[in-house]
Amino acid sequence: MRSIDTGLWVHESAVRSFGLSIPCRMVVVESGDGALWLHSPMALTETADQLNALGRVTWRVAPNAFHHLGQTEYQQAFPDSRLAAPTAVAGKRRDLRVDVRLDEAPPDLFGEHWRWRMIPGSPGSECVFLHRPSASLIITDLAMRIDDGAPLPLRLYGRLGGIRSHFGVNRVLRLMYRRRDQARRAIEDVLGWEFQRIIPAHGPIVDRSPRVALSKAFQWLSE
Ligand SMILES: [Fe+2]
Repeated sequence: MRSIDTGLWVHESAVRSFGLSIPCRMVVVESGDGALWLHSPMALTETADQLNALGRVTWRVAPNAFHHLGQTEYQQAFPDSRLAAPTAVAGKRRDLRVDVRLDEAPPDLFGEHWRWRMIPGSPGSECVFLHRPSASLIITDLAMRIDDGAPLPLRLYGRLGGIRSHFGVNRVLRLMYRRRDQARRAIEDVLGWEFQRIIPAHGPIVDRSPRVALSKAFQWLSE
């Protein structure tokens, strides 16, 4: 895990999906009292020692219906932690104990340091999060940039999706959007938040003009 800001770490590793090894990023937030909030946790053998040294795992988030594979081992390792996930995850993973369904939860679920928002109709029913103390917007598959140095599976995904070298929404995923009006309103809400970086699950962290980048990435939704 590497530190990004006060109380904020990321861990980058690879997950197997459709026979490919896909580089992924998980996010760890410590809120000052030793309580750890994990976004899209994975690769437990690589993180366990550091997590145990940092504090106690309180929340695990499965942010959409694609990022939940690591939850099995984390649920076993941290049985007192709670899992928050969209209903789409609960429907797909009946073996997991989903403690809170994000589509039904109150806005203060994670306390004053957080804002979060479901993006209705997005592929996998994604939920996005703002960690206010570090002004970090944490997203999953919603948007990303794929650079030349990325591993082959991601470069192919980037080329097919038209997101090589610029931050955007894969054009294959754009076709999967339903309820576009609601999705657009949700993105407009997120654009009203104060953030200085975007941490996606794949591809580089965006720390230059992140709001402009997000706005441009979703221009197609308003066309
Ligand atoms: Fe993903």
